[in-house]
Amino acid sequence: MGKIKIAVLGLGTVGTGVVKGINRHKQKLEVSLGKEIEIRKVLVRNAQKKRDVDLSPGSLTTFIDDVYIEPDLDAVIEVMGGVHPTYSYVKEFLSKGIHVITANKALIALYGPELTRLARDNGAQLLYEASVGAAIPVIHTLKHCMRVNEISKISGILNGTTNYILTQMLERNCSYESILKEAQALGYAEADPSSDVEGFDAANKLTILCRLCFGDSPLPGEIKREGITNITNEELQLVNKLGYKIKLIATAEQVNGKLLTDISPTLLPLEHPLSSVDDVLNAVSITADLAGELTFIGKGAGELPTASAILEDLYSILQFPMETWNPSYHRKIELLHDVGLETAWFLHFNSTLSDNAQDLAQLTYLLNRQQLLVNQTTQVSIDTDLISNGLIIESSTPQTIELLKRQFSRVVTARKIEGNVKVHEHAIFSS
Ligand SMILES: NC(=O)c1ccc[n+]([C@@H]2O[C@H](COP(=O)([O-])OP(=O)(O)OC[C@H]3O[C@@H](n4cnc5c(N)ncnc54)[C@H](OP(=O)(O)O)[C@@H]3O)[C@@H](O)[C@H]2O)c1
Repeated sequence: MGKIKIAVLGLGTVGTGVVKGINRHKQKLEVSLGKEIEIRKVLVRNAQKKRDVDLSPGSLTTFIDDVYIEPDLDAVIEVMGGVHPTYSYVKEFLSKGIHVITANKALIALYGPELTRLARDNGAQLLYEASVGAAIPVIHTLKHCMRVNEISKISGILNGTTNYILTQMLERNCSYESILKEAQALGYAEADPSSDVEGFDAANKLTILCRLCFGDSPLPGEIKREGITNITNEELQLVNKLGYKIKLIATAEQVNGKLLTDISPTLLPLEHPLSSVDDVLNAVSITADLAGELTFIGKGAGELPTASAILEDLYSILQFPMETWNPSYHRKIELLHDVGLETAWFLHFNSTLSDNAQDLAQLTYLLNRQQLLVNQTTQVSIDTDLISNGLIIESSTPQTIELLKRQFSRVVTARKIEGNVKVHEHAIFSS
């Protein structure tokens, strides 16, 4: 039986899952592919670290040159993360015609098109299913099953850490800080959580999805982005009473032939399909002219779910090594910069029991003056003397909402309207 020789760069959470997955399905893979899979080299930073998997003797190395000189590699699995030095390693393998499979969304968001061209020019493939939604096969679906459809919108919950935090804050009425600490202890959030909670991770993934759906994308840094650090548990309780949940939603939508992208905490009606996607689950919804709406839900992170996507990519490369993927025809799409489109907004403010009626009267006066329509209101008691008021304001621009907030702070000193969370479906108008 011939051999398939692979190298794995990185043996952390995902790398360990990859080795476990290969071992678990060794026989199945070998029978289907007619060859034995051999992990020839595994690159790590620290050779002394205790590992959770058995490796063949001599395969572990801390030197990339050991991998470069390994003869006849068929594929390299890059699961070490980071953009540098990963970018130069991946380039080196692709330019030698060696297939690369990666889970690295930061790398693909920044260098995906360049690396894909390099792969094609050298008869290799670069696959990255695990980089968005881990186990959810959304990239394969977009590449192979949505080539004729015209996609008008893609949106979803692309980050499991933030989804876990928002779910637990609501369910247990706990603060952002306490659930973040818990998420870190459980390994769902990193010591520095900013990539997740500020929406950078979701921006990388949205960039990758946009290229596949629309043929073009803003770079992650150009996407309008807001994280979840300002969301309070009071807000979550208030919106829940109004029949909504707050989720960090990433959206890319064609608006009058232009592409509008946005990542922000968004109110979803409780009956919306993404509203029940809780904890570390991810979800992606695609709206296409022929297929209608398709929603995929699944594990967007973790050792084995991420390894699942990588091993399916590996199988696909080994089965069809000559396959090249070309983007289907896309009109050149112009990027639309959000200049303050109208949307519905959720606002809230706290008042003492004795002042509440007067504060509400002041707010009503200001709303009337600006001709703003209130759609729903609710209240929750914070303690015996403090009330939190929540309201949803119908279509208005962010500028008008900011003005309202400033005026309210002036007339009701010591009170502040907090938050201005968009309401789903009003958030981006597709007229
Ligand atoms: N974790 C997930 O659930 C998940 C899901 C989807 C995608 N991803 C992506 O998968 C990739 C890996 O994530 P992970 O969670 O597995 O990371 P991780 O647990 O931190 O593991 C990283 C591994 O790479 C090695 N490494 C890092 N930098 C290196 C360098 N410069 N030279 C040699 N080895 C190096 C580390 O070596 P040592 O072990 O010696 O430190 C470690 O084994 C990232 O791109 C991530 O975004 C992760």
